[in-house]
Amino acid sequence: MKISTKGLLCFWKVSFGTRYRELEERPGEMLVDSHGRKINYLRLSVTGRCDLRCRYCRPRDGGAHSAEPEPLTDEDLLLIATTSVRLGIEKIRVTGGEPLVRKGIVALLRRLAAIPRLSKLVLTTNGLRLSELADDLRKAGVESLNISLDSLRPERFSRITGGGDLRRVLSGIERAQNCGFPHIKLNVVVMRGINEDEVEEFASLTRDRPLRVRFIEYMPAASADCARGITVPGEEILDRLAKRYRLLPMEKEELGGPARYFRIEGGAGVVGVITPVSCHFCGDCNRIRVTSNGVAKGCLFSREDVDLKPILRKKDPTGLRNALLDVVRYKPDRHPLCPEGLGGEPIAMSVIGG
Ligand code: 5AD
Ligand code: SF4
Repeated sequence: MKISTKGLLCFWKVSFGTRYRELEERPGEMLVDSHGRKINYLRLSVTGRCDLRCRYCRPRDGGAHSAEPEPLTDEDLLLIATTSVRLGIEKIRVTGGEPLVRKGIVALLRRLAAIPRLSKLVLTTNGLRLSELADDLRKAGVESLNISLDSLRPERFSRITGGGDLRRVLSGIERAQNCGFPHIKLNVVVMRGINEDEVEEFASLTRDRPLRVRFIEYMPAASADCARGITVPGEEILDRLAKRYRLLPMEKEELGGPARYFRIEGGAGVVGVITPVSCHFCGDCNRIRVTSNGVAKGCLFSREDVDLKPILRKKDPTGLRNALLDVVRYKPDRHPLCPEGLGGEPIAMSVIGG
């Protein structure tokens, strides 16, 4: 049977063409995974490098200051972001490693923020370079900041982060507040015997500052020295806080995300707990990730990943769309993490982006 070119074109339009036109015309409606979750949030890691080496994040021998060029170019990252937004992603969080060590990061953020139909561009940082960069980030279109801060004591901070200077981070936070970033979030990974005695002090920061202090359960999965048994369950953190403060629970919808939030009575800010270990929040998960080496992941700890680099090298936009659709389609229903860890090879958070 002879099929004319016109016939073939017609067949293509009906089968594949329709699928993609639907995606173009009805953004947000197609990124639904096989468990019925709407996926609208992309975490995009722009570098695996970092100027710190937090003990829970990277193997001790992981070269913190490695000068290796990034595997993904700005054009690659923009193509991933644009394609994701066309498919229905509404919010992009730029992560690392430490995103602010990437060369040309401000220009890249400006271009990301300009992607049509992207509602929110946000950033996670260790805060070391915020004093110099906060203004530029705000002007580039970054809407809000998550800042990692695991201790308020200089020596302890330095020990946890492998040499970090607490004063620099604190002045970075102040600078960010002064240049108008709303509700800055501080991420505190709580570790037994290391910084658990600081939760009250961290919470008290929210009494007169509009900060969101989030206590995160340590996930024993990352670095080679990932210590077992140092996870402090979220409930224990809340019990500790409730002994000192009257905590008023907030509506989940008010702030969104995996954190459960509370306000200390009369406080300007809020405290929250994020419990990836003791209490899975996977049922509400709305995110996918792209690691700094260009691997798309449906879940932090999934091993069914899609390497986007060969597709990017071929400059194949259709292949990229299909790969992202596959990542959503095969997103696992929950992550396998438990207090004993993951089993298998440790996973480098510095590459995945937290
Ligand atoms: N456990 C919990 N949180 C982690 N992060 C990185 N590694 C871990 C871990 N093992 C989070 C921290 C950091 C962000 C980049 O990722 O909150 O601020
Ligand atoms: Fe760097 Fe963040 Fe990892 Fe600390 S947790 S080493 S700041 S990437």
